[in-house]
Amino acid sequence: MNSNELQETAGRKTTAPQGDSPSLSLTVTAGTCLASVFAALLYFLARTSSAYTPFRSLGTTHYNHASHFVLKDNFVGNSFLQAWKWEIMNDPTHGRVNYIDQASALQKNLTFANNHKFVMRADSNTVVPPQARGRDSIRITSYEAYDDAIFVLDLQHMPEGCSTWPAFWSLSKDGPWPHGGEIDIIEGVNLNTQNLASLHTTPSCTMPQCAITQVNPPSNVPQHTPSSPTSADCDATVNYNQGCGVSFSDSASFGSTYNAIGGGVWAMQKTRARGVQVWFWRRDDPNMPPEVRSGAGVLAPVNPGWGRPAATFGCESCEYDQHFNAHQLVFDLTFCGDWAGSVWPNSGCGPSTCEDFVNNNPKAFKNAYWEINALRVYTPDEPSLREGPGPKAALGAATVFPPLHCPKELRYIAQPPDHTHLRSRAPPPPDPAI
Ligand SMILES: *[C@@H]1O[C@H](CO)[C@@H](O)[C@H](O)[C@H]1NC(C)=O
Repeated sequence: MNSNELQETAGRKTTAPQGDSPSLSLTVTAGTCLASVFAALLYFLARTSSAYTPFRSLGTTHYNHASHFVLKDNFVGNSFLQAWKWEIMNDPTHGRVNYIDQASALQKNLTFANNHKFVMRADSNTVVPPQARGRDSIRITSYEAYDDAIFVLDLQHMPEGCSTWPAFWSLSKDGPWPHGGEIDIIEGVNLNTQNLASLHTTPSCTMPQCAITQVNPPSNVPQHTPSSPTSADCDATVNYNQGCGVSFSDSASFGSTYNAIGGGVWAMQKTRARGVQVWFWRRDDPNMPPEVRSGAGVLAPVNPGWGRPAATFGCESCEYDQHFNAHQLVFDLTFCGDWAGSVWPNSGCGPSTCEDFVNNNPKAFKNAYWEINALRVYTPDEPSLREGPGPKAALGAATVFPPLHCPKELRYIAQPPDHTHLRSRAPPPPDPAI
């Protein structure tokens, strides 16, 4: 079944940057979201309107989107060292890993920072004794938590290779998990080359099929294959906490192929007005929005120039306020464990066990590193404005939300999980120092 290729847009003042004129490409197969066709039509009409276009969520409470997002935290190079905590707990996902503290990491050069680069890596020199906790690696968490925000990550290199399971994600500071939600922006295992973005939430949050769009394909990617949903129920208690997720169509969105092209830039937006979206642009993608590429100090609300998000979550089937609140950001790199370990036999990584591989092959971890050019966090210049409960009196051109409305009966029906994605990322115990 084809995806509905609906150009996303954001509420905007007419003075806001519009980017290139977006093409509204709509491919709807009979039987899928007809409501989206209607919404797309309204959207098209709205684009021709000169009035300010407020946002409404499709839940029972409506919010206006802030008119601008302002750079709040600009993490580049050394600035990570003060603003993030190096976690040393046992890996909650049971990986063959030994998370080390900041001082040890700096001393072993498993963390490296200068004025413009920040690198975190796995140990690639040491044979790990079987009785040790695991291979040295890094898990860091931002001290700051962010409510409505847009996060932009310029990532040169991500950890790659057999047994690795890197992730860049966010989770509720208040919790307890899964209360307040978990958003996985970058995640994959072993030799994967396609990113998986997913949510893990409390019950009653699902991802409608028509919200599953395809990654905005760079012009040099010949095939437009839709992102594939892995499951649609975000509830962490079903499907062994598989969550709801989207596997990106871009075959250079994860791992070795990502690194071979010098990576790219990621954005995640989480707002009351819009729910959660994830974008990815290859570094050479001419469609990367200029404000994203330049690391601008102010972002207008996400506009059509950003293209379709690779993953869109949250519309009437997931009330944002009930499932999300302020999130901390996390980078980690574990090995084997609940995901990379459980799919190891089919990973193409050879006959040994995953744990033996980790213990005995330090040289295999040479490319198991994060190299971050910048991580920018933008927050609204004004709080989200609640418009009051209940449906709008009239769904006119001025109240159009990007077309994400799905009739219930047409929602994606979750397939049984194709891998055991068992994991609980219970957050670490609260740090009294925070
Ligand atoms: C430490 O790591 C950085 C980043 O990978 C690298 O450029 C540098 O050469 C390393 N330093 C040493 C002493 O190995």
